[in-house]
Amino acid sequence: MITTVSPTGSDTALLSAHAVTKSFTVDGRAVEVLHGVDLSIANGEFVTVMGPSGSGKSTLLYGLSGMDAVDAGTVRLDQVELTALTSDLLADHRREHMGFVFQQPTMLRDLGLLENIVLTSSLDRVGTPADRVSRAEELMRRAGIWDLRARMPAQVSGGQLQRAGICRALMRRPRIVFGDEPTGSLNRESAEQILDLLTELNRDGTTMLVVTHDVRVAARADRVVFMIDGRIVDELGLTGDAGPDLARVDAVIGRMRELGI
Ligand SMILES: Nc1ncnc2c1ncn2[C@@H]1O[C@H](COP(=O)(O)OP(=O)(O)OP(=O)(O)O)[C@@H](O)[C@H]1O
Ligand SMILES: [Mg+2]
Repeated sequence: MITTVSPTGSDTALLSAHAVTKSFTVDGRAVEVLHGVDLSIANGEFVTVMGPSGSGKSTLLYGLSGMDAVDAGTVRLDQVELTALTSDLLADHRREHMGFVFQQPTMLRDLGLLENIVLTSSLDRVGTPADRVSRAEELMRRAGIWDLRARMPAQVSGGQLQRAGICRALMRRPRIVFGDEPTGSLNRESAEQILDLLTELNRDGTTMLVVTHDVRVAARADRVVFMIDGRIVDELGLTGDAGPDLARVDAVIGRMRELGI
């Protein structure tokens, strides 16, 4: 299903959501957790989503990426309406255009890091085996984990494993990377390395949508979107603010205080 114009997004929107709702059934009753969300993300933009626990951030991320179906509303990636695709086509679209980074990557424990990174694209038969290995090697070098390529997942730190997870997410050169608290289980130093990597990948053109509780992560974005009780209540643009990270962090904290988050 190809449509030509998105009613909510601008022409440059890569991802746009309009009037998205989502409910879960709890004890036989439908409880709505997303109450008609509109969001538009420009090509190349780095957007973070902040909000209290339970405000619907992960649900929104899953809905926008097609990992979970929404109840109503539309989601478009570029000109393709994801919410109108069959589940098979949606899965193809996800594999081809989207990367995912979660709090902790799930890796096969009996395969080395390089093999784990290559595995999914091998199953999808993308390029030749040699292409896949050289792409994985290039990414691992960039992520600073090249020397760990033969290590098993249990033999590296949480931060190193997360860097491998990001490499895996980037194997197919996704147009957009979705992150759900990618630094949530890391110490500060590892979190900074992950952030540097995500920032660098964004500078190279990968659009990012990252849910986080960490103001330092949020402050790296071009724009921070704030969610409360299943609604986007505010946003803070940081584009053009070439000041030090600390000033951006202060701006995010200030807005959170105003919103009572
Ligand atoms: N599968 C589910 N079944 C029932 N309720 C759910 C389900 N998943 C999420 N919820 C509820 O939906 C609401 C939003 O959850 P969500 O996971 O999106 O919050 P969040 O903002 O990501 O929170 P956190 O910061 O703690 O990760 C919460 O009230 C949660 O309990
Ligand atoms: Mg969550």
